[in-house]
Amino acid sequence: MQVVTSVAAMQRLAKKWQRAGIKIGLVPTMGYLHAGHLSLVKRARKLAGKNGKVAVSIYVNPTQFGPKEDLSRYPRDLKRDLKLCRNEGVDVVFTPRDEEMYPQSGKSPHGAGRKDARPTSGGFSTYVVEEKLSQGMEGAARPGHFRGVATVVAKLFNIAQPDVAVFGAKDFQQAAVIKRMTRDLNFPIAIDIAPTHRELDGLAMSSRNKYLEGDLRRQGLVLWRAIQKAQAMVKKSPIPATRLKAKLKKLIESEPAPKLDYVEFFDPDTLESLTKVGRGAHMALAVFVGKARLIDNARL
Ligand code: PAJ
Repeated sequence: MQVVTSVAAMQRLAKKWQRAGIKIGLVPTMGYLHAGHLSLVKRARKLAGKNGKVAVSIYVNPTQFGPKEDLSRYPRDLKRDLKLCRNEGVDVVFTPRDEEMYPQSGKSPHGAGRKDARPTSGGFSTYVVEEKLSQGMEGAARPGHFRGVATVVAKLFNIAQPDVAVFGAKDFQQAAVIKRMTRDLNFPIAIDIAPTHRELDGLAMSSRNKYLEGDLRRQGLVLWRAIQKAQAMVKKSPIPATRLKAKLKKLIESEPAPKLDYVEFFDPDTLESLTKVGRGAHMALAVFVGKARLIDNARL
């Protein structure tokens, strides 16, 4: 397994594979890998085909974190991540430094060491903004979040030049924004969405579950319980969204720690919110549980 830290070296490798007619499957991550991430790697392997190559990026992207969010304490363990990738048969891990992805000033990373290198004026200044699907839910709760996500994913697409990229349904709105960006900006890349991988008791796997110390791990289950409750409630006939929201807020906040950030019901294709919620509607929620902000979603 190769471990690549420079943009130029990753692009050279991707170009070499492309010229040889080898398909590339990319799995973008922020590391601290768990079985959910590894299920994406398995899909990438399958989609890239027998002779294909699988690339995993491990990069805690600062531009998608708000100033008061958990960037500095986001869990990291590169050594363990590399071991997991090696065991999964990953071909290359791309793990750049911040300075490589977002140069502060000085020379362009592409030009570094080259005769025609030009100093850039003040470093990085171009962002990708999706303007529709990123408005509500995570976009509303975390201003600038999807601008950071879309920007780094566009960069990773240009760096790893994949034929297919795999994302998780765990981050439903993120997957929708990335699919739209790929279409709108004509990236010649197939986007594959993998189902949410859960712990045996239903808790959606997440790097942030590490924040759930002691009894908080149990209390973190309220997201899954709220989803199941909603699924049961809309089974027979549609219910007004306001009524359903009130019920779920009560359920979630019946435990001592959890505080509901939002719960939304929406059309899974347009992400437009629904006033009446029936089967087939999609539900997403975000809940603060101690230091952790957890998200989950499911079809009802
Ligand atoms: P991260 O949270 O590390 O997740 C990387 C990928 O794994 C995302 O596509 C996410 O949806 C998927 N994933 C996480 N938990 C999952 C689970 N339990 N089941 C299935 N898939 C799961 O999402 C990001 O990083 C970043 O925003 C990124 C796209 C890498 C851009 O920085």
